[in-house]
Amino acid sequence: MTTTVDRQVKDSAQPNPTSHAKLAQWVEEVSALTKPDRVYWVDGSAEENARLTQELVDAGTLTPLNQETFPNSFAAFSDPSDVARVEEQTFICSVEERDAGFTNNWMDPVKMKAKLNGLFDGAMRGRTMYVIPFVMGSLDAAEPKFGVEITDSEYVVASMRIMAKIGTEVLRKMEETEAFFVPALHSVGAPLAQGQKDVAWPCNDDKWIVHFPEERSIVSFGSGYGGNALLGKKCFALRIASVMARDEGWLAEHMLILKLTSPENKPYHVAAAFPSACGKTNLALLDPTIKDWKVETLGDDIAWMRFGAQGELRAVNPEAGLFGVAPGTGWSTNPNAMRAIAKGNSIFTNVAMTDDGGVWWEGMTDETPEHLTDWKGQDWTPEANRPAAHPNSRFCTPIDQIDMLSDDYTDPEGVKIDAILFGGRRKTTVPLVTQARSWTSGVFMGSTLSSETTAAAAGQVGLVRRDPMAMLPFIGYDAGDYLNHWDRISAKADPEQLPQIFLVNWFRRTAEGGFAWPGFGENSRVLKWAIERLEGKAEAVETPIGFIPATGSLDLSGLELSEDELDEATRFDADEWRAELPGIEEWYELFGDSLPASLRTELDGLTQRLAR
Ligand code: GDP
Ligand code: PGA
Ligand code: MN
Ligand code: MN
Repeated sequence: MTTTVDRQVKDSAQPNPTSHAKLAQWVEEVSALTKPDRVYWVDGSAEENARLTQELVDAGTLTPLNQETFPNSFAAFSDPSDVARVEEQTFICSVEERDAGFTNNWMDPVKMKAKLNGLFDGAMRGRTMYVIPFVMGSLDAAEPKFGVEITDSEYVVASMRIMAKIGTEVLRKMEETEAFFVPALHSVGAPLAQGQKDVAWPCNDDKWIVHFPEERSIVSFGSGYGGNALLGKKCFALRIASVMARDEGWLAEHMLILKLTSPENKPYHVAAAFPSACGKTNLALLDPTIKDWKVETLGDDIAWMRFGAQGELRAVNPEAGLFGVAPGTGWSTNPNAMRAIAKGNSIFTNVAMTDDGGVWWEGMTDETPEHLTDWKGQDWTPEANRPAAHPNSRFCTPIDQIDMLSDDYTDPEGVKIDAILFGGRRKTTVPLVTQARSWTSGVFMGSTLSSETTAAAAGQVGLVRRDPMAMLPFIGYDAGDYLNHWDRISAKADPEQLPQIFLVNWFRRTAEGGFAWPGFGENSRVLKWAIERLEGKAEAVETPIGFIPATGSLDLSGLELSEDELDEATRFDADEWRAELPGIEEWYELFGDSLPASLRTELDGLTQRLAR
């Protein structure tokens, strides 16, 4: 079986696969270093994908799912040590340490390269080296953002095909102008000796996710997990793109993009930044519970935004797929995601399997199956005292399978953003929704955003940490410079068109410990209030932190929520905020001189207002 596949791969290899001199040279260098058995240029075709996924099935990496319920879909189960992004091992190797800032790990790029050269020497022995030309965003953009990922993982090739536009069409376009591309090198770090049998999920305990911001290049070693290995996503579209954005005057942000149409048929667009596993994909695919408001989606994780000629902020989603948290995604909470998944063509990682060859995870259905095979391959029944799916298990699904995808998703000009939400997971303190007084006070809200850690990154879950603009793990340069960039960029705007900024929190708890706000589709009520604030319709009460909904201004029609719960979800509590101040002070001290003066002024103002 594998021999035929090998021969096909060899036969399809062209002697001169590209006229792009720089690319050809880089591929040659990498192949000389990593010493793969063969080099294969990914064309992105359906036939190629069928061949590769079959190879993954034969290798035991992928399990084909029940064709009737999950057509052309597969489940993958990672090594239990390789289930999330590894922030500890993620580096920004700028030439100067200062430019990486206090939020990033840094190592001298010369030293780091020496280290990586050692790790990559022979790292692809016994494997195929795949060359994946890709573009983030539209191929028709004024300056398409090209990348080329080299990887020795077929799982990465199959997943990149869902998450980005890849293959020959992209390569040909790059060749036209000898375009710049971000070189993104990846290896699972598990070379095979002659005759050595591969494991289902090759990886290495030694993991390195490294960015060279001046060169705009990426090197990733040892992990097969999405955020560490699908290099177009977090590594390029956030970390490297944030550096490009700083230099070129735009924004690369960890944001969903959605379109709202009001009952008067007026379109609005909202971008929202929440940390990983804090509700972006769910809000992006919102099924509104209020009448006459329509929601369409444009993106669920990353927004590239720039000011247009009229001084309006425009956003595009550079991705082509969803890499969504599976647990909690269900027919009752997120039917739009479920419908997209049900169309097939998806790769699930670390979910549980049902006895009829389907997949399941906590929250997918109201009823729990009586028997499952858990993500570690063990028998599972509801009595088992552990989740069946890993808390960070994921579905990887083409975005165009979403029925409510906005037609504007493919527009390289993007959509005009009217409101920006910042949000996190806080049990206390942060009310359901607060409107910022101004752009600067909104940037203050973003800069002090806090959230409990989740299973999306390796490490302890549930610790409150500051996560500026939900970008803490993704800012590719000095965090103070990043806040300065946010502070200054509004100068490019027409003040009339500057988006309004809101702070939201779906996760506040009642005294009994449950969520005070029902969330999910009910979040449409918060969006409605935000839009009605833009329209000058909704009433608000001014508090020291900003404007919160006045009694009766949130549409609660048809919602069963007690007075107490509503109060618990929405109230501003001065004591809680006074208790919050020392943490914000401490956080701001970490920035040293690079903290924008305007944000220091905002904090002083808040402190004074809270003292009254
Ligand atoms: P993302 O990683 O930011 O895209 O977050 P997701 O939308 O995938 O959600 C992460 C987790 O939070 C999932 O388990 C969701 O079910 C849960 N979640 C999302 N939105 C809400 C909400 O409004 N309320 C509550 N209680 N949970 C939510
Ligand atoms: P998320 O994306 O924001 O949907 O969790 C993946 C990640 O941030 O690792
Ligand atoms: Mn994310
Ligand atoms: Mn998501």
